[in-house]
Amino acid sequence: MSGSDERSMGPAPDFRRATAQDLDAVHRLQVDAIRHGTGGEYDSAAVEAWAGAFNREGFAEKVERHEVWIAEVRSRMVGYVSFDPATFEIDSVYVAPEAAGAGIGRAMMEHILNVAREHRIENVWLDASRNAVPFYERLGFVTMEEVVRKPCGVSVRCTRMARLVR
Ligand SMILES: CC(C)(COP(=O)(O)OP(=O)(O)OC[C@H]1O[C@@H](n2cnc3c(N)ncnc32)[C@H](O)[C@@H]1OP(=O)(O)O)[C@@H](O)C(=O)NCCC(=O)NCCS
Repeated sequence: MSGSDERSMGPAPDFRRATAQDLDAVHRLQVDAIRHGTGGEYDSAAVEAWAGAFNREGFAEKVERHEVWIAEVRSRMVGYVSFDPATFEIDSVYVAPEAAGAGIGRAMMEHILNVAREHRIENVWLDASRNAVPFYERLGFVTMEEVVRKPCGVSVRCTRMARLVR
């Protein structure tokens, strides 16, 4: 727990493992983050396809198989991050719009890199939405290639990025 550290940008979040009971809150947070946090980089069809791609049915299994972590400030969910130790992909990084820009995203990435380190994983990767590329670059990720993801069949251009865990 790191909740006693006060960052200059805002209080550092606490982290806990997600459970199946977090389904509704995580779903809501993700949809809000996508609708308000993609900085006009995508048209509304792409935003809604991405927002609609949340897999409610698969969530209980995901929290078992993946490292899914909730960031909280004063017991309120401000973000969540998910890492798949089988594929080395960081597959979800979402900060609540009202908490954005205060260091929560950085803290979540540092947390999940520590989790990957505990798994003795040496490299992690992710498909960054265009709005988030500068954020990941700040965190030491480098571009591998441009890719197209197809949530709900709609093309969303992303940037595949990776970094060493150490
Ligand atoms: C992208 C996102 C996770 C960033 O989280 P955040 O809490 O706002 O980011 P932080 O405040 O921790 O920022 C960390 C660093 O990245 C920088 N940064 C963040 N967003 C940035 C941007 N769009 N452009 C340039 N720099 C950016 C910050 O300035 C900060 O730099 P510093 O710590 O070196 O001073 C968040 O805005 C979000 O959830 N967006 C919507 C969903 C999304 O796009 N998720 C990623 C899917 S791949």
